[in-house]
Amino acid sequence: MSDIDLGALAADIAREAGDLAKRRRDSGFALAATKSTLADIVTEADREVEQLIRERLRTERPEDGFLGEETGAQRGTSGLTWVVDPIDGTVNYAYGIATYSVSIAVVEGEPDPEQWQGVASAVYAPALGELFTATRGEGAWLDGRRLAVTTETPAGALLGTGFGYDPATHDGDLLMVRRVMTMARDLRRMGSAAIDLSYVAAGRLDGFFERGLNAWDFAAGALLVQEAGGVISRLELDSSRPMFVAGGSAVHDRLRTIISGAD
Ligand code: IPD
Ligand code: CA
Repeated sequence: MSDIDLGALAADIAREAGDLAKRRRDSGFALAATKSTLADIVTEADREVEQLIRERLRTERPEDGFLGEETGAQRGTSGLTWVVDPIDGTVNYAYGIATYSVSIAVVEGEPDPEQWQGVASAVYAPALGELFTATRGEGAWLDGRRLAVTTETPAGALLGTGFGYDPATHDGDLLMVRRVMTMARDLRRMGSAAIDLSYVAAGRLDGFFERGLNAWDFAAGALLVQEAGGVISRLELDSSRPMFVAGGSAVHDRLRTIISGAD
């Protein structure tokens, strides 16, 4: 299968999965469990949607590996791995806020974000009706329109961030916000890292930063940013919660400097 075909498959599955998530939301859903902290919820829909994605991939790409937020990792034999967040922004989903997404990436190489290379990805926000897609070397797209990150921020950068769900880490996150506000026009807090990164790719945000993301939160969005001409990188501020920084190159570099305390 070519990279373009893999991208088409990612998009097709993301649409089907997102439509299922939305249907479940529209007809009510049950909270299934808490994960890392009380605020980190998982809904029955998260599990059902990941199951759907996993089944479709098992049928269509049986040799590929899988890494999903809810059902974990399985190594494949093809050198490709699908990295899946069935509902990114679960808290938004539970509260009835439209900003949630299905995030699917197919990556090549060792199943480790430090080593793999993105091949194709899709982020679908069913309640917003938007599908963001990227294929390596072929650009990033939103419903047929080619995306590009912003390059000029004369009035300061419009930035996005997230805090994660553990209240114990909020102080450190707020300290970061205080630092980066010196370069910001304003700050947005969307609640889905996959959508934040899609918005950077689409030029709706000039930059994004967040500590402690998991691979499934950023795998699809990272390729979108890169294919839209932007940069995403990781900073080891503390070992357990690496910081991710994304944007057009100027905003990305400035964010890194400020966040690392070199400014
Ligand atoms: C979360 C979202 C949120 C981010 C958290 C993630 P989930 O993913 O991406 O924006 O701030 O760090 O864990 O748990 O809703 O899939
Ligand atoms: Ca997530």
